[in-house]
Amino acid sequence: MEYKIAVISGDGIGPEITREAEKALAKVGQNYGHRFTFNHVLAGGCAIDEVGQCLPDETLKACRDSDSVLFGAVGGPKWDDLPGEQRPEKAVLGLRESLGLYGNLRPALLFPELEDACPLKPEIIEGGLDIMVVRELTGGIYFGDKGLCETENGPGAYDVEIYTEREVERIARFAFLMAMKRNGKLTSVDKANVLESSRLWRRTVNKVAKDFPEVELSHMYVDNAAMQLIRNPKQFDVIVTSNMFGDILSDEASMIAGSIGLLPSASIGEGTFGLYEPIHGSAPDITGKDMANPIATILSAAMMLRYSLGLSSEADAVEEAVRVFLREGYRTPDIMSNGMKQVGTREAGDIIAESIHR
Ligand code: IPM
Ligand code: MG
Repeated sequence: MEYKIAVISGDGIGPEITREAEKALAKVGQNYGHRFTFNHVLAGGCAIDEVGQCLPDETLKACRDSDSVLFGAVGGPKWDDLPGEQRPEKAVLGLRESLGLYGNLRPALLFPELEDACPLKPEIIEGGLDIMVVRELTGGIYFGDKGLCETENGPGAYDVEIYTEREVERIARFAFLMAMKRNGKLTSVDKANVLESSRLWRRTVNKVAKDFPEVELSHMYVDNAAMQLIRNPKQFDVIVTSNMFGDILSDEASMIAGSIGLLPSASIGEGTFGLYEPIHGSAPDITGKDMANPIATILSAAMMLRYSLGLSSEADAVEEAVRVFLREGYRTPDIMSNGMKQVGTREAGDIIAESIHR
């Protein structure tokens, strides 16, 4: 089969890591007889520099014309002083909104080989950890009304958290289905003791739950969830939550895996189209130094194979190659420990691609 992939490398380490993910996909193609074509398009700071806007129309069109999108990272100090509407990060929000990518999957998986890199005590992580954060991605405070205002106490600013029942129902169904494919446990995270929007969230999740009697549903306040993730992360299977809470909790969950350089994500809408990206950012401090960990992006490519292209054996092969890389003692600087072999971004990508077998 032939698959068209739009590649948005973006800024900072983006081009270094997407290059390694392309390498892995090319190797999958060789081994399994698929053809992946990569269409490189601009978004983020580099797009601002080249064409004067962070998300050019051609980029959106190229994404729509593709089977899925591989995304690196955007942003950097060079563009930090631009007003909110013109910042590179706006490209990420624009892509999610324009492409209808309402469901964000962020797995936090601790590889047994990396238990050393996990900051939690061994007894807390014994037997491994495997949590799936399902984050609502096109609603809530990120997309609510926002602005500057004058108050009687001087200048102010506001961002409105708003959810409709339809939005909550859609992401809840997505999360229940995910829980059914996993261990059948779903924790819905909100702040229903304070926020009206969270009370609507909770009511709606409870309504959807009636269609999924086999899933064990519980509710948790976000402050408690932040604590429980550190205190007893093994209690979680699937977590479903709003856009902002999901942003925060997924970064926290990533530390459980040892490094933010390891965690992939999938953003999915109706149908099979999706956008796949590491959850980390553009890391300007290590850009161009061949130091970035390409694993999160390579695992994002594996999620693309599984969720958008329906190629689950191929996805397994990529994930296994990452495990082989770690098992053989290779480490990028972010996860380096005593007695291991340190490699750079390029070499890591080469070794992982070489380890992809049919
Ligand atoms: C993420 C990022 C983005 C977000 C930024 C870059 C807009 O932090 O994907 O988690 O807040 O959603
Ligand atoms: Mg984030």
